[in-house]
Amino acid sequence: MSSKKYNIAVVGATGAVGEEILLLLEEMEIPVNKLIPLASARSAGSRVTFKNKEVAVLELTESVFKEQEVEIALFSAGGSISEKYAPHAAKAGAVVVDNTSFFRMMDDVPLVVPEVNPEDIKEWKKTGIIANPNCSTIQMVIALKPLDKEYGIKRIDVSTYQATSGAGKLAMDELMNQMRDVMNFRFENTKVEKFPHKIAINVIPQIDKFTENGFTKEELKMVNETQKIMHKKMQIASTCVRVPVLRGHSEAVTVHFEDIIDADDAREILSKAEGVTVIDEPQKSKYPMPLEATGKNDTFVGRIRNDIYDKSILHMWITADNLRVGAATNAVKIVKKWIEMEENK
Ligand code: A2P
Repeated sequence: MSSKKYNIAVVGATGAVGEEILLLLEEMEIPVNKLIPLASARSAGSRVTFKNKEVAVLELTESVFKEQEVEIALFSAGGSISEKYAPHAAKAGAVVVDNTSFFRMMDDVPLVVPEVNPEDIKEWKKTGIIANPNCSTIQMVIALKPLDKEYGIKRIDVSTYQATSGAGKLAMDELMNQMRDVMNFRFENTKVEKFPHKIAINVIPQIDKFTENGFTKEELKMVNETQKIMHKKMQIASTCVRVPVLRGHSEAVTVHFEDIIDADDAREILSKAEGVTVIDEPQKSKYPMPLEATGKNDTFVGRIRNDIYDKSILHMWITADNLRVGAATNAVKIVKKWIEMEENK
């Protein structure tokens, strides 16, 4: 990488994804001149750790990007914050990498997974904004793109098993508090704020709001975003489910291909794919699980098997750390590629 170093703002630096972004900026050796952690007025003056040093958190304001001469701004503080402040960052000349859903489906905004469509990053100039896809979409396209390239995907049916951290730090706390209430026989009156129902010792088949066609917004994000990233209108149906896991989303995926596909060949292709690790020894009970995926930057794939009736259908299980692969890792990989592209122009 270059000798140029960048002023990098992290909006939502005190949040679940923001904290991972700080770790990854260091881990991926992004050339940082000045780190500017931004959060709400509540956190202004508190400190975050970056490269073993404490850095003071500043309040997010419309003018902070210009004042701090921000060149790269990573947003992870929710859609309404991005809606209001990302245009100010872009106007101040920064490239915005946005983790929320607010800009994702806008025509002029590239939606990027660096392992899948890195070439779309160059469209960033149109608005100054690059969107990071939904967590469940990212891990699915990382695993499916290499198979699509060889065999052509016709249709995807997916059920997700999504961790509470996808809804932020307070949602993780809610699961922990409810588990405590279970242990102390207080579960009857446990507090429910972040999810539509109790999440401890439960499974909730609803993430985000329902739309008129019976699918939730989260489920439609998986459909629309996958088609945009892969530049292909394959059929997709998704059922998104919240499970009492802290970190790591899993997905049971059924994929219909144009051609006959052998599970061993698919395993071989995936074992060589960028960002993918295959764990597939079912006889030894080895397959991907959230606990093992936590803190990792790869997408894990296992349980790869042919359909019993139709040899052009594969079933598989995909797990990844939603805070990393599904958010921070993807965002920081976009930053890394953007820097490479800018400097090789
Ligand atoms: P703060 O800690 O000051 O509330 P999570 O996804 O884990 O819930 O984190 C959300 C992140 O977004 C936090 O860093 C939070 O900062 C930040 N955030 C929430 N509301 C605002 C706001 N109004 N202005 C700036 N940052 C915000």
